[in-house]
Amino acid sequence: MESFLIKGGVPLRGTVDISGSKNAALPIMAAALLTDEPCVIRRVPDLSDTRFMVDILKSLGAEVSFVNGTVSVHAKKISGYADYELVRKMRGSICIAGPLLARLHKARISLPGGCIIGARPINLHLKGFAALGAKIKIEGGYVDATAKKLSGGSLFLGGRAGPTVLGTANVMMAATLADGVTVIESAACEPEVVDLANFLNAMGAKISGAGSPTITITGVKKLHGAEHEVIPDRIEAATFLIAAAATNGEVTVKGARADHLRAVLDKLGEAGVSVRRRGKDLVARRGGKLKPVDITTLPYAGFPTDVQAQMMALLALAPGISIITERIFESRFMHVSELARLGADIEIEGPSAIVKGGKPVSGAPVMASDLRASAALVIAGLAAKGVTQVNRIYHLDRGYERMDEKLKKLGARIQRVEEK
Ligand code: EPZ
Repeated sequence: MESFLIKGGVPLRGTVDISGSKNAALPIMAAALLTDEPCVIRRVPDLSDTRFMVDILKSLGAEVSFVNGTVSVHAKKISGYADYELVRKMRGSICIAGPLLARLHKARISLPGGCIIGARPINLHLKGFAALGAKIKIEGGYVDATAKKLSGGSLFLGGRAGPTVLGTANVMMAATLADGVTVIESAACEPEVVDLANFLNAMGAKISGAGSPTITITGVKKLHGAEHEVIPDRIEAATFLIAAAATNGEVTVKGARADHLRAVLDKLGEAGVSVRRRGKDLVARRGGKLKPVDITTLPYAGFPTDVQAQMMALLALAPGISIITERIFESRFMHVSELARLGADIEIEGPSAIVKGGKPVSGAPVMASDLRASAALVIAGLAAKGVTQVNRIYHLDRGYERMDEKLKKLGARIQRVEEK
C-alpha cells in the first residue's frame, strides 16, 4: 500500500490543470450501455474508479478501450448481470442498473452494501424503477429488476437528505427508452446530472429540465451512438483552490467552471480567500488573515458535501470558531480525529463539527478513511510544519488524477512511497 510523505510549510505557486469529472464520467460511461452502437467519451480522468467502471462494462460484454483520457464503449451484445466482486469495489457502479433495465428489461445487480460515510441505501433508485413498471426483488444480496415493458409516469424522488444524484441519473436513463413521458420531481440539480442529460440527448434521447428539480423525459424507441466531452471536476478544482489558501500561496486553476463552484467561492470569500477570474481561469490566494466561517452541506447549488472535509482543514487554520454541519451523509467526519493528530482543535456535536481554528498544525502520521477525507489530510499536511505521512492513499487515487504530480508542479514537497 502506498502513502504520501509531505514536508509542509511551502506556499503552492503556479498553474494546475483540472481533470474531467469523476462523478460525471461514471454515469456517462454506464449510459453507453443504452445503445448497441459505439460511444466515445473524452476527458475521462484516469482513476481507479473509472478503471473499475471499464471492468464492469467489460464484464457485461461490452468492448471497451481507455486510452489517454478517451473511453470508447461498444455495447453490441450485453448481459444484465453485475457480479458482487466487481460492484463491491465501487458504489457508483449502481448506475448501470437504469441502462440495463431500459435496454434489456432486466438487471441483476449486487447491492452496493455499506459505506464509511453513511448507510447510503438505494431505496429511491428502486422506487423510481418501480414507478416505471419494474418488478423489484431483493434476494441473496442482489437486486433483481424486471419488466415486460417500461412506461412513463410522474414520480417524486426526494428522500431523507433531499434529492439523490445517482438515483436521478439511474431513473432518467431508464426512462429514455420507456413508453410515454416520465416526469421526475425533486430531481438532483448537480452539474453531473446535466452533463449526463446532454450526453443522452446526443444519443437521441428527449430530456428537458435537467439542472432543475423537475426533469421531463419523453421515451424513444432506440438510442444511437454519440461522442461527448466530460465537464471539468468541480470538486478537484475546489480542492486545489483550498490548498492554495491553506499554504498561503497563489495558484491558477485552469479549466474549471466557475459557475459550478458558486457556493464554494462564496464561502472562500467569507473566509478571506481571494479568488479572481483571469479569462477562463481562477486564481486563488489568501487576501489577508483567514476568518472563521459557518458551513452547512446541502444538495446543489448549496455547499457540496464533497468539499466539507477540505474546507474543515482550511478552517482549522482560521483563528476563531467555525461550525460545519453535514446534512447529506450521517457519518462524514472521519477526518476529524486525524486532523486532531496534526494539532487541529475540533469537536463533534451531533451533525456539526465545532472548529476552534488558529492552533499551530504540525506533521504526523495520519490515516485516510475515504476519498475526500484523504484530500483534507493532504491539505493539512501541506500547511503543517514538519513531515506528514498520509497512509492508505488508495482512497485518494479513486478520485484525484495524479494528485502528487500536480502538487509537485506547484512546488509541494510530496512523495509517493510504499507504506512501511
Ligand atoms: C453522489 O453519490 C456522488 N458520487 C458523491 O460523491 C456525492 O457525495 C453525493 O452524490 C452527494 O452529492 C457519485 O456521483 C459517484 P446521493 P450518490 O444518492 O448519488 C440518501 C465523492 O466523494 N439516499 O445523492 O450515491 C443518501 O444516503 C462521492 O466523489 C437515500 O436515502 O449520493 C444520502 O444521505 C462520495 N436513498 C443522500 O440521499 C437513495 O436511494 C444523498 O445521496 C439514495 C440516496
